[in-house]
Amino acid sequence: MQIRDRIVVVTGAAAGIGKSLGGVCLARGARHVVLADIDGDRISRVATELGPAATGVCCDVASESDVQGLIAATLAAQGTIDILISNAGVTAKGGLDCTNEQWQRIWEINVMSRVYAARAVVPHMLEQGSGCLVHTASAAGLLTEIGSAPYSVTKHADLAFAEWLSVQYGRSGIQVACVCPLGVETDMLDESDPVHRFLYLQSITAEAAAVAVVDGIEAEEFLILPHPDVLEFFRRKASDYSGWLRGMQRLHQKFSGPNAEKRI
Ligand SMILES: NC(=O)c1ccc[n+]([C@@H]2O[C@H](COP(=O)([O-])OP(=O)(O)OC[C@H]3O[C@@H](n4cnc5c(N)ncnc54)[C@H](O)[C@@H]3O)[C@@H](O)[C@H]2O)c1
Repeated sequence: MQIRDRIVVVTGAAAGIGKSLGGVCLARGARHVVLADIDGDRISRVATELGPAATGVCCDVASESDVQGLIAATLAAQGTIDILISNAGVTAKGGLDCTNEQWQRIWEINVMSRVYAARAVVPHMLEQGSGCLVHTASAAGLLTEIGSAPYSVTKHADLAFAEWLSVQYGRSGIQVACVCPLGVETDMLDESDPVHRFLYLQSITAEAAAVAVVDGIEAEEFLILPHPDVLEFFRRKASDYSGWLRGMQRLHQKFSGPNAEKRI
């Protein structure tokens, strides 16, 4: 789907990739961008900076009623939604030590938000015979993230839901895309974490990630890979799952323990 003249909704748009997506969509000629974020003050400022073709909405994507409100208000104000980019996401470090509350919270934000968004907007897109749903997952959804079980699991789930939506609605005019970046220079990358410092080695800017997303939407790609190397890593995993796991185990060992710093 071409961006020109489209009505685009982006969640998690007050910072990072989502913020850049708002600007890049407008630069490509979007008619209006509706930017949603849990940080109400920040999203208002971002929308004001972008000018009259942008609206900022305070919305917690983990709340189904907030997401329903975002979709309903956009349809009332703009008459349609062509592209919905479910981008808001969080991370939680840890594995077996993560609490049930941490698992539940990240599940709500990284996965259920996408279910709430699709539930609210797909009927409208089916009625108009077209629409585009974009999920910002992560390379962790195709591979894994060393050091974060909840992030790895929820990003796999996000990708699985995007695949399912594509199979279910692809022949009814709804385009679906799933974005799987490696490191992107935003607040999410934590320089005190050895795994994230490793990701910095190949990191790209939020602007570059947003341009890759918009190019992928316009090229009608399902899998959008702002870091092309991820495709090769994914191929290796598919062709030799056990060998790929052994390689990841070695990498995990490298990042663990007191001398992790020196091994990067
Ligand atoms: N930065 C990376 O290295 C990287 C890599 C792969 C994937 N991603 C994914 O990209 C997406 C965007 O991440 P980012 O790096 O721009 O992060 P970021 O932290 O810079 O921005 C995330 C935005 O989401 C908002 N947000 C958080 N919880 C929310 C909620 N419940 N409701 C509404 N908004 C909420 C935050 O306020 C923030 O503005 C996420 O889904 C993330 O998992 C990031």
